[in-house]
Amino acid sequence: MIQTEHDRLLIIDFGSQVTQLIARRLRELNVYCEIRPYQKVTDVGLREMAPRAVILSGGPDSVTREGSPRAPQALFELGVPVFGICYGQQVMMEQLGGAVEGGHHAEYGRAMITPAEGHKLDGIFAGLFTETGREQVWMSHGDRVTKLAPGFEVVATSPNAPFAMIADEERRFYGVQFHPEVHHTPGGKVMLENFVRMAGFTGDWTMAAYRDEAIRLIREQVGDAKVICGLSGGVDSSVAAVLIHEAIGDQLTCVFVDHGLLRLNEAEEVVTMFRDNYNIPLIHADESELFLGELEGVSDPEEKRKTIGRLFIDVFQKHADRIEGAAFLAQGTLYPDVIESVSFSGGPSVTIKSHHNVGGLPEKMGLTLVEPLRELFKDEVRALGRELGLPESFIGRHPFPGPGLAIRCPGAITRDKLEILRKADAVYIDQIRRHGLYDEIWQAFVAILPVRTVGVMGDGRTYDYACALRAVTSVDGMTADYYPFSHEFLGETATRIINEVKGINRVTYDITSKPPGTIEWE
Ligand code: XMP
Repeated sequence: MIQTEHDRLLIIDFGSQVTQLIARRLRELNVYCEIRPYQKVTDVGLREMAPRAVILSGGPDSVTREGSPRAPQALFELGVPVFGICYGQQVMMEQLGGAVEGGHHAEYGRAMITPAEGHKLDGIFAGLFTETGREQVWMSHGDRVTKLAPGFEVVATSPNAPFAMIADEERRFYGVQFHPEVHHTPGGKVMLENFVRMAGFTGDWTMAAYRDEAIRLIREQVGDAKVICGLSGGVDSSVAAVLIHEAIGDQLTCVFVDHGLLRLNEAEEVVTMFRDNYNIPLIHADESELFLGELEGVSDPEEKRKTIGRLFIDVFQKHADRIEGAAFLAQGTLYPDVIESVSFSGGPSVTIKSHHNVGGLPEKMGLTLVEPLRELFKDEVRALGRELGLPESFIGRHPFPGPGLAIRCPGAITRDKLEILRKADAVYIDQIRRHGLYDEIWQAFVAILPVRTVGVMGDGRTYDYACALRAVTSVDGMTADYYPFSHEFLGETATRIINEVKGINRVTYDITSKPPGTIEWE
């Protein structure tokens, strides 16, 4: 269990695609919440955790199927408010004596609900139906409740869901057939806010409070020991390093491994920021010769990733070994990385890409992990960074992958190609900044392609590389859509790259979404 003094709200996950959105909405309301897969929440564990309220998520299963997931029965005797969403509503009905049936007309997407006669629209329903007498909601279900459990009343209905909103006000149990956590349910946020206020949450989960608490917990965990932190220059590891430095000062040493696959001027920027601006002890390990040497002739994407991952661990360990008394390794792990998602297939999932990280290092080196961002979502990490005074230029940076430019250079990596890629990427990002688009885009970069094409410049023939521009919007990197630049922007950028970067004579724009593509090219 995560150690926090805040009242917590527990979200029991039945495997909905949008469970994380429930947590995000609650965090926006300054409520501390945790997601747990239903299999991991026992009656005993639930009592120990003592949540102030519980939300039951949606899920893909059918409660009418034998052996389908259930909530711990103790939940309904805790005396705390419970809010069931979609599958969560059905499970609640099933376990409390109502009935659910499948085989009805399935309802997906937008629906309109209207209030039922006789139920007062106050408490968690306050503020709904006030403008037009209806609310737009987003449905996604095949089964539906057909008989209410004792104590429940209907609050609202839709043409296909006679029990679209239900309540047992005495026990403070609520259920909705739709998803209040998605944007397509505009009143959903009001409902969730009413629910948490009614449960007694005061909204004290702020970044200022979090910062103080995190500092106290880091000091408690680390004592007088030394901590090493692998810095990549990205937002997460930077925020983690600055936070830990604030907690324990020079007991922290950062190791920045420069693998020679960074963007233009990136190494200098990281070193300046940490060593010169923050006075944080920093080892700048320039190992580009080693990495580029080992990568010579490697063109298979997985082999590139594995080579870089292996060398990274060796190099990190070599430098970390020189720090006497180091007992802890700090990492910028985020909450989405630690949520155990519910897998219904039960089978092994396919490896799309071997992500580069320092997994395995702590055990190998006998180090204990310090992960002060484990409770946070990416936007919260950015808010914490601001709280800690990190420059906006660092906080707002687009994500950059651990294997760096290696995976933006399909085919064999050469120093020449990397040089060309760095320059083209710098021009592209400069264009995006000049047009004020940087913050609208999740990630933008250039990939240099392993093809050369014929062109004409001035009176001469050119035979140079083609490159692809990539820019995507995304919330979490899991899915993404290409950014709809104007044709003027694309034309101007292509002209600038070809004029300013020797070695490129053709520019394309990648308009693949994820899925079916991925964000990076490898
Ligand atoms: P893909 O290409 O899988 O990328 O759609 C999703 C997000 O993850 C980043 N990425 C990585 N980040 N180590 C990282 O730290 C990696 O090995 C890695 N591979 C991809 C990618 O830049 C995007 O933000």
